[in-house]
Amino acid sequence: SAAEKGGYDHFMLKEIHEQPKAISDTLTGRISEDGTKVVFDEVQFPAGFVKDIDRIHILACGTSWHAGMVGKHAIEKLTRIPVDCEIASEYRYRDPIVSKNTLMVVITQSGETADTLAALRQAKEQGTRVLAITNVVGSSAAREADDVIFTWAGPEISVASTKAYTTQLTALYLFAGWLAQERESVGASEVPAILTALRDMPANAEKVLETAPAIQAFAKEWSSREHAFFIGRGLDYAVSLEGSLKLKEISYMHAEAYAAGELKHGTLALIVEDIPVIALVTQDDLYEKTLSNIQEVKARDAFVLALAWSGDQQIAKSVDQVIHIPKVNPFLAPILAVIPLQLLAYYASVARGNDVDNPRNLAKSVTVE
Ligand code: G6P
Repeated sequence: SAAEKGGYDHFMLKEIHEQPKAISDTLTGRISEDGTKVVFDEVQFPAGFVKDIDRIHILACGTSWHAGMVGKHAIEKLTRIPVDCEIASEYRYRDPIVSKNTLMVVITQSGETADTLAALRQAKEQGTRVLAITNVVGSSAAREADDVIFTWAGPEISVASTKAYTTQLTALYLFAGWLAQERESVGASEVPAILTALRDMPANAEKVLETAPAIQAFAKEWSSREHAFFIGRGLDYAVSLEGSLKLKEISYMHAEAYAAGELKHGTLALIVEDIPVIALVTQDDLYEKTLSNIQEVKARDAFVLALAWSGDQQIAKSVDQVIHIPKVNPFLAPILAVIPLQLLAYYASVARGNDVDNPRNLAKSVTVE
């Protein structure tokens, strides 16, 4: 009913707008009073384990897998522990290499995804410690994992996941910071600044939501197309994958996310006049590299919409349209950068007359293999 949707036309739009609060709820109680430390009382590793971990396997499906890719980057950067992030349905059938010092992290909004649970159960059988990041208290993942970090996103109704993803990212950044702090790793000194930035995230997410009218106009103009591309490097590539999935799931446009530097090894063949290319440009240390990839697609007359920091005056000279988002530490950019892409998928789906909250052939939770 309209009341359940809180005045929004669809659950997805409501859930997109709930992200500032969901992020804030996921942070609550997890930052020390002086703002410098991560508090994770719910993680109760055996004595010594936190320092012994020598490998982390992140397992998930769909959007949760995309969150895991950001988690891999965050954990490796702050702790230097090698992290693999894999699709659960692949992992369970490939005889992965684990030891007593492996930590498995499963990410699942519902806590009921069959493939993810199978990977969890396999790990437990072989004696691997499992930490679950899930949104549902009392779910199978929450009950069966050794440790649980809840994302406090609240119920997510729309099949296309939005606030679950941004709260998974929030939980993963906290966990990466916690690991660094407990292990006294290279990144431990960065934790206080990361926590400050995380605390500012709800207000910044609120500002990103103000891009909605511009995104809606873009979606109206471009959603009659059959193809779209998303490009980026590093964390921008991980977010591109999620933006592309979102668009495919609910608008039914074909979209492809490409690591920007990989374009010339194949996909550039598909870039022709007026193909929409959404370019993410939030990773400052990769800025020039991404810019040269943008020039490659512009040279083929693509229409480029860039997602860039506010204050980036240079980018407008190289692209057709820019969506600016408030500047934060690029390490945390994914939490903000995904929001315009969620809005793009939403408005494209509406423009195409689709059933936004219940896309064809997809289910909210896939409990069969
Ligand atoms: C389904 C949903 C996706 C979701 C995936 C994993 O395919 O349609 O939106 O990302 O399952 O779900 P989970 O609950 O494990 O995060």
